[in-house]
Amino acid sequence: MENTEHDTHKLVIIVGSVRDGRFGPVVSSWVAEQATAHGGFEVEVVDLAEVELPLALPASSPKFAGDGYPRPAGMARLTEALEGADAFLIVTPEYNHSYPASLKAAIDWHFTQWTAKPVAFVSYGGAAGGRHAVLHLENVLTELHAVTIRDGLAFPNYFTAWQDGSPLDPAAAGYATTLLDQLFWWAGALKNAKAVAPYPA
Ligand SMILES: Cc1cc2nc3c(=O)[nH]c(=O)nc-3n(C[C@H](O)[C@H](O)[C@H](O)COP(=O)(O)O)c2cc1C
Repeated sequence: MENTEHDTHKLVIIVGSVRDGRFGPVVSSWVAEQATAHGGFEVEVVDLAEVELPLALPASSPKFAGDGYPRPAGMARLTEALEGADAFLIVTPEYNHSYPASLKAAIDWHFTQWTAKPVAFVSYGGAAGGRHAVLHLENVLTELHAVTIRDGLAFPNYFTAWQDGSPLDPAAAGYATTLLDQLFWWAGALKNAKAVAPYPA
């Protein structure tokens, strides 16, 4: 796909795992390289390990409270990134057939920031490659009026599938391009649609 500077969309890549010794940053670094090389995105990586993400939510709802929603100071960069994004790419592992609690907290502390924006997934894990995590994320993000992208990238048995920061499968970069092309298309389509008429959330 030919992209011009005029077409560039703001892509926020979210690193979903936060535990000590995690593999997530290896995957997200490679994904960020693919997204940058694609040429259609201004790429920002947000690592949830660097975000203050309490489990206890305020009494009010992020859906209705708007800018007055009382978020912790250490969440400001995440909120700003989500607010300014045209598209998201979530890098998630699979924990007990779902996605990590860190990601659920990041999602639940926000609402309007996800609305009418496209979300793609890159997952990794054991035999299922994070498939259950992505299915759950698709379900949750639909509630927030986000649009999930059909093509994803999954790395089963990631511990044997990566070497020196890259996947061993030579087809992986091609799959990443397909996913990024779809994300790019949806980012432009939704941006144009919102310019014509506000989304009826
Ligand atoms: C609490 C926990 C539960 C897990 N459950 C699953 C699982 O259900 N399916 C799977 O494929 N891998 C599972 N794993 C293995 C993870 O996919 C693997 O540890 C991966 O490295 C986690 O990503 P991270 O290193 O970025 O945290 C689990 C790991 C943890 C820590």
